[in-house]
Amino acid sequence: MIILDGKKTASDIKEEIAIEVANLLDKGGKKPHLAAILVGSDGASETYVKAKVKACVKVGFESTLVRFDSNVSESELLAEIEKINRNSSIDGLIVQLPLPKHIDEMKVTEAIIPEKDVDGFHPANIGRMALNLPTYLPATPAGILELLERYEVETSGKNCVVIGRSHIVGSPMSILMARNNNPGNCTVTLTHSRTKNLKEITKTADILIVALGKAEFVTADMVKEGVTIIDVGITRVKSDKTKSGWKLLGDVDFKGVKSKCDFITPVPGGVGPMTIAMLLKNTLISSKSQLY
Ligand code: GUN
Repeated sequence: MIILDGKKTASDIKEEIAIEVANLLDKGGKKPHLAAILVGSDGASETYVKAKVKACVKVGFESTLVRFDSNVSESELLAEIEKINRNSSIDGLIVQLPLPKHIDEMKVTEAIIPEKDVDGFHPANIGRMALNLPTYLPATPAGILELLERYEVETSGKNCVVIGRSHIVGSPMSILMARNNNPGNCTVTLTHSRTKNLKEITKTADILIVALGKAEFVTADMVKEGVTIIDVGITRVKSDKTKSGWKLLGDVDFKGVKSKCDFITPVPGGVGPMTIAMLLKNTLISSKSQLY
């Protein structure tokens, strides 16, 4: 069993990016610049955005954090996006999701110009991804591809089962694993809350990607020997064994399944750290105008 170490891989990628930034500056270029918009003060969103800003500093990027109160109007938010769209010193813009109920997330996603959509959530960029055209890949799926590639996990001709059809992970992941690429070229089954006989399907998986947000949902009886498991879940649960009083659990019963796996991502330290590294990579690509 080999652990797909996202923490180490993300750190390698950040080092590679920092070197590229230093080279850009040496040649008289400017620092890549990421802007993030955070609405409200949801604990998890706050943590993620702070981690993104911190990562920008670490690799030598410029970053701008724009904060709005949770009662900001949709039009005010859209006006800020417009302003950043027009600001040529900013290369990438993300609006942290979820947004308060009174704001239409899809309208906000569509308001970001595709050229600055380093989250890869804009319908134009999702379409480009589906057609295998150059684009910004959504960060979590891109991080998973990067782990599979760097650990040389064979994907061609394999059965890949994805659990969860979110716009951010499951749905794009299913498209990416089916594309004629490496990693890719899998026979993909996308499963969700209405799927019947899930266990029969997961037992066929050579590669199982789990992104449904239910702690320790996947157990040893659901997988076959030699499987590769990618666990995207992060659920915070109370624990009397940690100093903080909390621990993080994935969607997979890691201890129970690990002896059956060829490769598996841990939680924490698996997919999570890769997400931020890939967001930085997209921002670097944008700053070099490599896509559009
Ligand atoms: N919320 C959860 N994941 C993400 C992400 O990757 N990007 C943004 N903008 N919001 C998120």
